[in-house]
Amino acid sequence: MNNEIERRRTFAIISHPDAGKTTLTEKFLLFGGQIQVAGAVKSNKIRKTATSDWMDIEKQRGISVSTSVMEFDYEGYKVNILDTPGHQDFAEDTYRTLTAVDSAIIVVDSAKGVEAQTRKLMNVCRMRNTPVIIFINKMDREGRDPFDILDELEQELEIKVRPLSWPINQGAKFKGVYNIYENKLDLFTPDKQRVTEKVEVDVNSAELDACVGDTDAAKLRDDLELVDGVYPEFDVEAYRKAEVAPVFFGSALNNFGVQELLNCFVEIAPSPKPTKAEERMVSPEESKFTGFIFKITANIDPNHRSCIAFCKICSGKFVRNQPYYLVRQGKTMRFSSPTQFMAQRKSTIDEAYPGDIVGLPDNGIFKIGDTLTEGEKLHFRGLPSFSPEMFKYIENDDPMKSKQLNKGIDQLMDEGVAQMFVNQFNGRKIIGTVGQLQFEVIQYRLENEYNAKCRWEPVHLYKACWVEADDAAELEAFKKRKYQYMAKDKDGRDVFLADSGYVLQMAQQDFENIRFHFTSEF
Ligand code: G4P
Repeated sequence: MNNEIERRRTFAIISHPDAGKTTLTEKFLLFGGQIQVAGAVKSNKIRKTATSDWMDIEKQRGISVSTSVMEFDYEGYKVNILDTPGHQDFAEDTYRTLTAVDSAIIVVDSAKGVEAQTRKLMNVCRMRNTPVIIFINKMDREGRDPFDILDELEQELEIKVRPLSWPINQGAKFKGVYNIYENKLDLFTPDKQRVTEKVEVDVNSAELDACVGDTDAAKLRDDLELVDGVYPEFDVEAYRKAEVAPVFFGSALNNFGVQELLNCFVEIAPSPKPTKAEERMVSPEESKFTGFIFKITANIDPNHRSCIAFCKICSGKFVRNQPYYLVRQGKTMRFSSPTQFMAQRKSTIDEAYPGDIVGLPDNGIFKIGDTLTEGEKLHFRGLPSFSPEMFKYIENDDPMKSKQLNKGIDQLMDEGVAQMFVNQFNGRKIIGTVGQLQFEVIQYRLENEYNAKCRWEPVHLYKACWVEADDAAELEAFKKRKYQYMAKDKDGRDVFLADSGYVLQMAQQDFENIRFHFTSEF
């Protein structure tokens, strides 16, 4: 059992759209032998250029089922890559997926540097102390000076960095990367689709000059000296404590620097860590199975209202057909066909270990955040809802179908598609999302899966934040004063709907003893 836990690496590759997440994922699968030719795993993103159409949404949902988790064996390690949606409007899904990983790889475009989404994702990693490795991609394009990029990473992402590979030139003259971690240079022939033979070269030998030319060889030696002078030696423990982020350079598209990254990743990335439950810490080595649901994906086939709930195993061994306890409902369940995912295939499994993700067939029983155990009443924490950025009133557009509509809304919210707040003043339902596309998905799915029609009406809101106070009377006084702005979330908690930054600021000033939270977990 300990051996199985030790060899597991469960992580997510995250990036601002277009930095190269999909390409890098694919190259990992290539090295892992899951696919033979890159380009086989279809892009899981909605094209950012075209305005989204329904086909794209369907494709996104369909493909995200088959590629939600990709696992492969590599050098004795069992690698589980958790896929995150490419489109920014599904960022919430990405945040949630980050709760199920033990580490992350952040891909950054060498020319664009740190972008808005990179910053947000890093904040989520920081909240959870998730160790990150940074991959600076697209070195084959004219980008910025590597030292400048490293400075920007430190400043913008607020984390110390330590380069573990170094580019030989960039742009059209990019020749590959020197592997600082292993102190060697592997030169590959660029190949977009296959893994090519590599030649190992000693950095201090004349062979280097012969391979990359005198000028580049001299520059590389100088750069490496400077790197060693500027950055302290790499400390694995500091990385695992999320205090320092190792940085790799390369070009995912051309297969440069990818294997260096993967080899180092499996060696240094943490194996499954203890998970915090409300009641206690749960260690992966415990004999009894525990796990939590972090993602639910509706099946693309509207004739079968079946979903797949993704369960991250936190401790013990998961065994098919064993009775497990769904804590929220106090119900015992057996799973006869739990699935495991491999690139585009999925297969039924008999057992799985901490760090693994199993897909459980679900016909509407699970909610995001549900805990499964062998009987213990545990509640895993760590699935925060983030304060949404866009708001609309949702209204029934077909009075004959109000039951269907309500059921649909409830289930979609349980799936975590968006958040719903009920205004306590007028009773109207407000849907909060992080992007326009989520509204389209909700409307489309309500119609197709629940046979219900909805209509959106504008509501002018700036932020929804959760409020609490130590003194119940003070909270009541606040709610009374702000009664038009008060709402309840799906768990019945108090939410303050501020219609402008000014209103929020004033409320924070006037009510010093009220705490305003921008994530649901506090
Ligand atoms: P994402 O998942 O992070 O959104 O990015 P994705 O991998 O889809 O990459 C975005 C674009 O960047 C793609 O081009 C991809 O081919 C390109 N790209 C990825 N890695 C590299 C690299 O190392 N060098 C260069 N020059 N380009 C790279 P696209 O035109 O948007 O898509 P496609 O038509 O090529 O698939």
